[in-house]
Amino acid sequence: MCGIVGFVGNRPCSGLLLEGLSRLEYRGYDSAGIGLLGPDGLVIRRAVGRVAALASLVPESEHTVGLGHTRWATHGGLEVRNAHPHCDRTGRIAVVHNGIIDNADALRARLDPTGAAFISDTDTEVIAHLIAQAYTGDPMAALQQAIGHLQGTWGLVVAFADHPGRLFVARYGSPLVLGFGDDEVFVASDAQAIARWVDQVVHLEDGDQLEIRQGMFASIACRAVPFHAAEEADMGVHRCFMVKEILEQPRVLTNALVGRVSDRGVQLACLVDHPSMRDVSSVVLLACGTSFHAASVGARLIERVAHIPAVAKLASEFSTDGPMVDPRALYIAVSQSGETYDTLEALRRAKGCGAATLGVVNTVDSSIAREADAGLFVHAGPEVAVASTKAFTAQIATLGALALGLAGKPESGVAVAVRKSLMALPDAVESTLERLRDSAAVTMACRWIVDANYALFLGRGPSRHVAEEGSLKLKELSYVPCDAYAAGEMKHGPIAMLKKGTPVVVVVPRDEHRTHMLANIAEVRARGARVIALCEPDDVEVARHADLVLPFDSTHSCLSPVLSVLPMQFLAFRAAELLGLDVDKPRNLAKSVTVA
Ligand code: M6R
Repeated sequence: MCGIVGFVGNRPCSGLLLEGLSRLEYRGYDSAGIGLLGPDGLVIRRAVGRVAALASLVPESEHTVGLGHTRWATHGGLEVRNAHPHCDRTGRIAVVHNGIIDNADALRARLDPTGAAFISDTDTEVIAHLIAQAYTGDPMAALQQAIGHLQGTWGLVVAFADHPGRLFVARYGSPLVLGFGDDEVFVASDAQAIARWVDQVVHLEDGDQLEIRQGMFASIACRAVPFHAAEEADMGVHRCFMVKEILEQPRVLTNALVGRVSDRGVQLACLVDHPSMRDVSSVVLLACGTSFHAASVGARLIERVAHIPAVAKLASEFSTDGPMVDPRALYIAVSQSGETYDTLEALRRAKGCGAATLGVVNTVDSSIAREADAGLFVHAGPEVAVASTKAFTAQIATLGALALGLAGKPESGVAVAVRKSLMALPDAVESTLERLRDSAAVTMACRWIVDANYALFLGRGPSRHVAEEGSLKLKELSYVPCDAYAAGEMKHGPIAMLKKGTPVVVVVPRDEHRTHMLANIAEVRARGARVIALCEPDDVEVARHADLVLPFDSTHSCLSPVLSVLPMQFLAFRAAELLGLDVDKPRNLAKSVTVA
């Protein structure tokens, strides 16, 4: 994944580069580095870990040209020698790269069969050597020639010590934008990283290769679009972004629904502008991670409310499996960031086959938002914590509104009930958060899970996706091993994991699956495992059979995941805190996954 930033101007740039990199840390934070370019050559500084670790190594300097990188490791471990920028053998050509070079091993073997010339284990270093091999004084020609050998994806920024005052950039498959300020030019992986300093941006396209230098705006102005910084997220009084984002959910849900769902019915601009989207034969939702769990709940909502066959598919499989695309179906890409590589590729595949596409995204200016035929924004505001929380609930609410929109008029009894429940969701979320925020039961459940170093999550129907989301959240934040299963599958294998005291988290709303869930609870208890039940506050029957209860308010059964996920969010967050881990930036992860 990785984040890239570069600057050519007439003011010292090391601070700008570091600030830009901090804003790009959502793309990876395994290591960071910058290269400063001046008449005396290149000054390179690199550090393992966060940009903050790099900052202390960067000297005060007058350099006005530079490039920087924050890394999510693909090739090579978390060591300084694998941090970008990477240089050629002379140290006079420096490269930062976002993407993956698929044929790096073959190129490496061809460039240097002994491998002795390579300092790092990265695919990027190969690019630096290729450029050096092709360089005879013309940087652009060398870059073009090197790119001719590459297979894979790249966003590249290259500095040549022989050419101070200029940077060279190329894009194929990994995003890059140019930003223009007052006689200065930025390049970055996304526009928000440089938002403070620019008012016009150009989104580079695949195949673009160009030189950036002061005063270049005139030559590219035809592709520039005005640009405004998005709302800045700050932590406020909270101790981490994740807590802030969990507690924001009542307001977030109001924002997702306001102007769309009301006593008068449902109004969605995307369906007004694209009425043919109502006539589709089926709906396929494409997403990854938490967004996939929301999409899975959304598919059930669409089937139940709009009576259109709907299915959620993992975009990471769809983009490479070569599935049949039905041109009469509506393909919906669901993504918080709007930049997830697999989701974008899946969307492109559906679009390329002539199907109608819709982006249900949070980030307005994102690639998915730009490339889908129509957009339906979830309006969750910036989500900074790597673990997604408010985007999940906003996505379900938005997909609920979409289900109602696709159902059209006259409203069925189910549609009326779902619409009313949607309108009541912000209050129900508020009340559930109140129950949970200082809950001793959540702390106790975390202790059990951390002590057992394992948990099994079970649910049926829409609650299965909540069990999967709870398990994903716990894994990514606390690194505690855990499984999630459709509760009916427990007896087909996972039950073997249970022994005395094993924590089993069951999601039991009052829906048509409740009786079967009660049977599963009995089976769990019979093995001496501990039942942590997520259920409605007045559900005495479930409470009687549980060792601990984490309550959530009642709503329509199709929407219960919006509420039952809240205890899961608290469980994962508290477990991470209990273990003294970084809640907002868990190990090995990145907020936006922009590689295959
Ligand atoms: O930006 P997206 O919604 O497309 O991201 C998809 C996943 O990478 C994301 O939901 C990931 O699973 C989160 N870290 C989960 O908390």
